[in-house]
Amino acid sequence: MYDNLFCSKNGEMHRYIVSPSILSADFSNLKSEILKTEDAGAQWCHIDVMDGHFVPNITIGAPVVRCLKNAVSAKLDSHLMIENPLKYIPDFIEAGSDIITFHIEAVKDTAAECISLIKNAGRLAGISIKPNTPVSAIEPYIKKVDMVLVMTVEPGFSGQKFMKDAAEKIKTVRKIAGDDLIIQVDGGINDETAKICAQYGANCFVAGNYVYKNEDIKKAVISLLD
Ligand code: DX5
Ligand code: ZN
Repeated sequence: MYDNLFCSKNGEMHRYIVSPSILSADFSNLKSEILKTEDAGAQWCHIDVMDGHFVPNITIGAPVVRCLKNAVSAKLDSHLMIENPLKYIPDFIEAGSDIITFHIEAVKDTAAECISLIKNAGRLAGISIKPNTPVSAIEPYIKKVDMVLVMTVEPGFSGQKFMKDAAEKIKTVRKIAGDDLIIQVDGGINDETAKICAQYGANCFVAGNYVYKNEDIKKAVISLLD
C-alpha cells in the first residue's frame, strides 16, 4: 500500500524509509544539505517543529516547509512537537507537508479530529508516543493512521542517546498493526540502533546527527536504507 514511499528519487526500491532530520543540518545551506541526502537515496526529509511549550526548545515552522516544497523532491515529513496540533495542522497542509505527525500527549480529545484533518487533505497521518508513554495510549488510533512514530529519546533535542527500552514498544505496535503500517523511530538512530529497531518491526528511520554530522553523509544514508 505504501510501496512508492520506499522508492528513492532514482527509482530504486529500498527495504526501509530514511528520513534525515534537518535539525542537525547546516541551516545556512539547507537545500544543498537535503539534496545530498536525496542523492544518496533518502526518500523523506524530517522536519522537527518545536514550540517551546510541548518541548523545551524552539525550532522551525510552516514557512520553512513551504520553501522546501519547491526546492527538494523528498517527501516532507513534519514532526509536530507542539501543543494544540489541531490548530496548526492546516498550516502544515497548506505549506505542503506530505506526512504530518502529532503527539498523543499534546491532545486531550482531538486525536481523531487531527487524523481526519490530515487524511481528508490527502496527506499521511502519523501519531507519536514519547519514551514514557505506553502503546495503550494510541491503541484506538493505530488502525486509523498511516504511521506510528515511536520516540527513542525525549523529544526536544538532537544528538541524544538511544533508549532501547522505548524501542521495545515497536514490537507491540507491529503486533497490533500487522504489516501495512509504517513504524517510524526517532532519536539516537545510527546503523546499529536502526538494526535493533528493524528487528522489532520498524521500517522508517529518522536520523539527525548520524546523517548530517557524518563526514560521509552519503554513506550514512546508504547504511540505513537496506
Ligand atoms: C528529537 C527530534 C529528532 C532529532 C533526532 O526531538 O524529534 O528528530 O532531531 O536527532 P538524532 O538522530 O541526532 O537523535
Ligand atoms: Zn523528530
